[in-house]
Amino acid sequence: MLVIGPLLVPADLAAVQEMAASLPFGDGRATAGRHAVGVKANDQALPSAQLDAVLAKVEAALIANPLFQSAARPKALTKLILSRYRTGQTYGLHVDNALMQGLRTDLSFTFFLSDPDTYDGGALVIEDHFEARAIKLAAGEVILYPSTTLHRVEPVTSGTRLAVVGWVQSLIRDQGQREILFDLDQAVEACFAAGGKSSQFDRLSKTRSNLLRMWVDA
Ligand code: NI
Repeated sequence: MLVIGPLLVPADLAAVQEMAASLPFGDGRATAGRHAVGVKANDQALPSAQLDAVLAKVEAALIANPLFQSAARPKALTKLILSRYRTGQTYGLHVDNALMQGLRTDLSFTFFLSDPDTYDGGALVIEDHFEARAIKLAAGEVILYPSTTLHRVEPVTSGTRLAVVGWVQSLIRDQGQREILFDLDQAVEACFAAGGKSSQFDRLSKTRSNLLRMWVDA
């Protein structure tokens, strides 16, 4: 589980917030799975050129982010969704579909678009075996988390919560292997920063490359 961002510079974020706020929205249950449909009560932006522009900006910023690349190693992303929760709306406990648009969903992400001061409630709560973590980020920040988890969005009790959500099929299917490669990325960078292209650096980057070759699901 990883917080990334802020992804957009303040001027771009403000422009995306403004565009998103004026879009037409429909019932969010259109994209819920068979069992999630009963607990989902939100809205999602209807198709339009302006929506495509919003989603393209978010997607481009995410793809360009080195931390996202290192943590997710994306092979493909589903089409993003702009969701809206108004007062009283919520998304109860559910697990995301394993397959979406022909992609295996390895990782889920939520890009918080609304300033947290503008709404109450609306935290994303992710449950693992030990605890439930409530996540409410600054506008422009992203939480990346395993799609294997049960999670929910707490009811919004005032204001409006806008967020962009999407799913990643990773080149590395196994979460443990993804974590090893993520750690190696950090180690390779630190080794280079400390000593340049040393023999340790060469050995470490060779190991990273060869593990990637061993595990990649290309
Ligand atoms: Ni979900």
